[in-house]
Amino acid sequence: MLGSVVVMNGIASAPAPGAVQRVLLLAPDDEARRALHLLIDRRGLQVVAATELETARKHLASAECDVVLVSPELAAQVCKEHNVPPVIAVVRTRDHATSLSLLEAGVDDILCDPLDDLALTLALRHVSTVQRRFAVVEAAPSLVGDGALMQKLKATIKVIAATRSTVLILGESGTGKELVARAIHEASPRRHRRFVAINCAAIPAPLLESELFGHVRGAFTDAVRDKPGLFEDADGGTLFLDEVGELPMGLQVKLLRALQESEIRRVGDTASIKVDVRLIAATLRDLDDDVGAGRFREDLYYRLNVLPVQVPALRERAEDIPQLARFFAGRHAARHRRDVALSEPAIEALARQPWPGNVRELENVIERALVLADGPAVDAEFLGTLMKVAPKASAEPDHELSVKKATRSLEADLIRRALGVTAGNRTNAAKLLEISHRALLYKMKEYGIS
Ligand SMILES: Nc1ncnc2c1ncn2[C@@H]1O[C@H](COP(=O)(O)OP(=O)(O)OP(=O)(O)O)[C@@H](O)[C@H]1O
Ligand SMILES: [Mg+2]
Repeated sequence: MLGSVVVMNGIASAPAPGAVQRVLLLAPDDEARRALHLLIDRRGLQVVAATELETARKHLASAECDVVLVSPELAAQVCKEHNVPPVIAVVRTRDHATSLSLLEAGVDDILCDPLDDLALTLALRHVSTVQRRFAVVEAAPSLVGDGALMQKLKATIKVIAATRSTVLILGESGTGKELVARAIHEASPRRHRRFVAINCAAIPAPLLESELFGHVRGAFTDAVRDKPGLFEDADGGTLFLDEVGELPMGLQVKLLRALQESEIRRVGDTASIKVDVRLIAATLRDLDDDVGAGRFREDLYYRLNVLPVQVPALRERAEDIPQLARFFAGRHAARHRRDVALSEPAIEALARQPWPGNVRELENVIERALVLADGPAVDAEFLGTLMKVAPKASAEPDHELSVKKATRSLEADLIRRALGVTAGNRTNAAKLLEISHRALLYKMKEYGIS
């Protein structure tokens, strides 16, 4: 059937060169998959169907399809895979938030089920113009900067990537620790498997264990079904534990066990599960201090600190600033569709700043400059006005969109204010906050409020 005539609305046309001929259909739901299968079959296209990512990977690896049609729950994951042809998500209902998150995840088109023939034809025609993506290798942001310190860092990454030892990435906020972790994963033999990242500070302590290790049904009130944790998600790949210094003591023991035994136990389970995960941890705290103060287990520290990697602060590698500045200017001009560039004096001015919030702060300032500029070039003077009002260190980590993180931060803030208003009287503060006295004490402990 390949290369056959495509009939669209009664008009016969030969498939254009590069037109879609082979479709990978990835949908766990049997009914939805069969319906799609039928529709695509009828068009004379070749279909391979998969119910799970694992099977889909084999087809992706052999580059045997021109497009992936995927149900929304697997769309983000498939976009992260290596060697992915264009991806079309097929949604049940079209709502703005879902569409937006699918597009952000990298899908090339979205179709609404039930599919009509015309919509499918147009979508297939559209994606046949999209380049095959080598998602993991090419689309991932690379480490910009060729100064001496960055060259050394890149050489270290290369060496480390070939091993499977645990890595501990150290560095100030915004220096690019997560990017370094990704770079290690992508240079490693595990690059075809998943890179799973979690920020230990962003997840409330009681949820963290189930997030990392999963749980079985009935393990706690909300555990209505078995759920694998991130260790299992990252099996064969890399797990990145950001802000590992925030890991509660109880979990430190469990993490150590997982590292030593290469097995984990889901919350509420009696059996263990073998996992093959390379762990990369990062911290901006001084874990040496934390060990001394009894806040971090010494045995875990040594287990994590097998290969320490120090990411330099931006002020220590100021020679990279012009290159970074041009890179971010290009990125944000494209992202905001603005034909604006940085002037040379502006770039020189950027290179003279101390950047306490490191690369993230530099990027934020440049993004704002490009959005707010009213001419084709951002000059040094205009930048100066922006830098004065730049948020201090712009040190919000990459989870500005995390509801969990925002809720925690708001909660901690309200508690501090209530305690301020009541001059530290906890009973009255709890009343103002409309929570129980016990809940207040618990939360104060959790957020380190004295
Ligand atoms: N060398 C670099 N080249 C390109 N972009 C970079 C570089 N270093 C950092 N960035 C960008 O700066 C931002 C911050 O980087 P990243 O999140 O990796 O920092 P971090 O050290 O993990 O920060 P935090 O400690 O706050 O979590 C990201 O948008 C990242 O893409
Ligand atoms: Mg980080």
